[in-house]
Amino acid sequence: MTDYAGRLRLGVNIDHVATLRNARGGDLPDPVRAAQLAEEAGADGITAHLREDRRHIIDSDIDRLMETLRVPLNFEMAATDEMQKIALRHKPHAVCIVPEKREERTTEGGLEVAREENKLAGYIAPLREAGCRVSIFIGADERQIAAAHRIGAQVIELHTGAYCDAHAEGDFATRDRELEMMREMSAYAHSLGLEVHAGHGLNYETVAPVAAFPEVVELNIGHFLIGESVFRGLGPAIAEMRRLMDAARA
Ligand code: PXP
Repeated sequence: MTDYAGRLRLGVNIDHVATLRNARGGDLPDPVRAAQLAEEAGADGITAHLREDRRHIIDSDIDRLMETLRVPLNFEMAATDEMQKIALRHKPHAVCIVPEKREERTTEGGLEVAREENKLAGYIAPLREAGCRVSIFIGADERQIAAAHRIGAQVIELHTGAYCDAHAEGDFATRDRELEMMREMSAYAHSLGLEVHAGHGLNYETVAPVAAFPEVVELNIGHFLIGESVFRGLGPAIAEMRRLMDAARA
């Protein structure tokens, strides 16, 4: 069973440093340098999503992250044969399986686990055997969480996007309903023995209620922090997120 008495971990997603680099071509800004700065600023882990179309993170970023990171890498990927090979070559600390559609701008929803249970169970087994913690990016849905547990995932990451979108749109009834679902589902997942993470779209305004869920042990946050770092620098942007998370937890 997960020990949730400890400090809430912050995983910093560096994908959008690579987005900026790729907008011009060339090597700058370097997402690996951002990862090192994030480590120095107190990130407990680094998250990077190697997409099938390599629109932000590219293969050599993963090579360099594996060589240089001192904190764990949470390697996000779609459940494809190509990505499984890459993950098995690197054996990162964690592999987070996400749904991926070419036409989407970002990961829009959680993974459909229940419909693909047998396939996914077979897919994640070698990753687990290689020593990776397998995490499933998932909506706050009891059926999907139960399926994630049955296929042998150790971790679920709750998709906070709908909650954050409702907050941004000022639809507070939907926001509060989404939050309540996530609260119930994080308790449910924990009762099954799953470790619970959360992320997507979180910012300074939306982080506290999610950070306050006692069963959530890790938040993964990227786009907002990279954007905010334009104004205050990456270290201070991360430090403020850390402060808000710790305050919500207390
Ligand atoms: N967690 C997962 C599984 C994700 O796919 C993403 C986006 O890549 C994030 C967290 C971070 O989301 P954001 O960049 O919106 O903070």
